[in-house]
Amino acid sequence: MFKPAERIVFRPEPGRWPSAEEAAGARLFSPLSLGPLTLSQRTWVPAMVPWRATPEGEVTQDVIDWYARFAEGRPGAIVIEATGIRDVPSGPLLRIGDDRFIPGLARLVEAVREASGGETRLLIQLIDFLSIKRRPARGAFLERFLIVTDRHRAATGQSDDAAVRAALAAMPDEDLHAALTPRERESLTHGFRERVIDTDRPHIAELPQVLPTLFADAAARAEAAGFDGIELHYAHAYTMASFLSALNTRGDGYGGARENRVRLPLEVYRAVRAQVSPNLAVGCRMLAEDCVAGGSTVADAAFFAAEFARAGMDFVSLSRGGKFEDALQPKVGEAAYPYTGPSGYECMPAYISDARGPFGRNLAAAATIRAAIRAAGLETPVVTAGGVHNFAMAEAMLENGEADIVASARQSLADPDWFRKVRLGHGDAVRLCEFSNYCEGLDQKHKQVTCKLWDRIGVTRDAPGTSADGKRRLTAPVWEV
Ligand SMILES: Cc1cc2nc3c(=O)[nH]c(=O)nc-3n(C[C@H](O)[C@H](O)[C@H](O)COP(=O)(O)O)c2cc1C
Ligand code: SF4
Repeated sequence: MFKPAERIVFRPEPGRWPSAEEAAGARLFSPLSLGPLTLSQRTWVPAMVPWRATPEGEVTQDVIDWYARFAEGRPGAIVIEATGIRDVPSGPLLRIGDDRFIPGLARLVEAVREASGGETRLLIQLIDFLSIKRRPARGAFLERFLIVTDRHRAATGQSDDAAVRAALAAMPDEDLHAALTPRERESLTHGFRERVIDTDRPHIAELPQVLPTLFADAAARAEAAGFDGIELHYAHAYTMASFLSALNTRGDGYGGARENRVRLPLEVYRAVRAQVSPNLAVGCRMLAEDCVAGGSTVADAAFFAAEFARAGMDFVSLSRGGKFEDALQPKVGEAAYPYTGPSGYECMPAYISDARGPFGRNLAAAATIRAAIRAAGLETPVVTAGGVHNFAMAEAMLENGEADIVASARQSLADPDWFRKVRLGHGDAVRLCEFSNYCEGLDQKHKQVTCKLWDRIGVTRDAPGTSADGKRRLTAPVWEV
């Protein structure tokens, strides 16, 4: 995982916790309309993949327990993890690409309603992603994956494919790299990764034709399962964010200028909106900044967010970074992971940081984006995440126009009751996230995500609610008032 060179250590501070009376009058605990929904408070648990679904993408009891535990803290809203809109194998990631997933998701909705006493609104994040392969061994790449071209023939002086491969295999790394195109080199050193600009591949060329329907059908299933809202995943390293990115140079009217890059995300939104009832909130998660060379800037994001608001989205949730372009080189046999490079650090900053520190790195960009929405004459709520871990910070974000809703991912994982504790005047009982990114390390390995602050408390091997390795509890201990 990337660490900024300065290596300045930051510790989370509790700040001053409010009394129950102060909390009752706080902005954070005041209601807000989210399109057709009313949030009872402006607290939001953003999407976090906990790796608890079956290999077929079905809801398990562990998935239900995980979200029910967050619901006990009674935040204004919880967003269920990135859930695949296609019916294709994707490991233990939740899926919603077929009607057979509806009953499991309906049980999840029911469990959250019950655990929050009906207070927490439940949204689901819908994701599409492109193919990424594991980094191959050098020999396997040259023997099996490389398509021999005239460039390789010229570099080796051989004409027969087998002789070209053998000559490339005999080259020192430096010469081999020079003989490959940049994309081939990337496939060798990081593993092959599809991009939205690969329009020579028919299934990539036709993304604008297929994605609106895929997202809309998934949204209809989410409504059938009882969700209150949809969050379209337009952030991080995935298909829709790649359409928005300034790195999208597609020449078919869906790339290049900002107006073209936002076209498919708007078409997807409109298809979803048309397919679901007006009772459902529909918004998106997007990047305030790509945080990679040549990627989209905050000015791009302000333009996109205003367009989304104008189109009628009920909220815009802001993340940052989390891209493949600067991800660390994976080991042979492993796939690149978008949260390992500098842009990944921007997404989930840890306690070893640069002078800016890990808390609130998205606030300035969020204020600019929110101001652009307001300048367009719209009141669309902005959800802002990034290092939030205490009441004072959350309240200041609302006061300073950096957010209408405060999202906290890792702090909510460290203590799912933190909203309730603060609201009841028990702020001093909040377990503060240390921003160690232990949880993110588990996520990266697709292991069941837990928090190091509580996952060893009272663990009994083989007891229900214990991780597959028998060493960690899967949900936070219960808080007794
Ligand atoms: C374990 C883990 C899984 C995550 N999964 C998702 C996800 O599925 N979708 C998403 O948009 N963000 C995901 N994120 C990013 C968080 O939603 C959030 O943007 C990020 O952690 C920064 O917020 P924080 O500082 O409050 O943790 C994940 C974060 C963690 C730690
Ligand atoms: S493991 Fe726990 S303390 Fe560490 S970053 Fe994750 S939530 Fe915070």
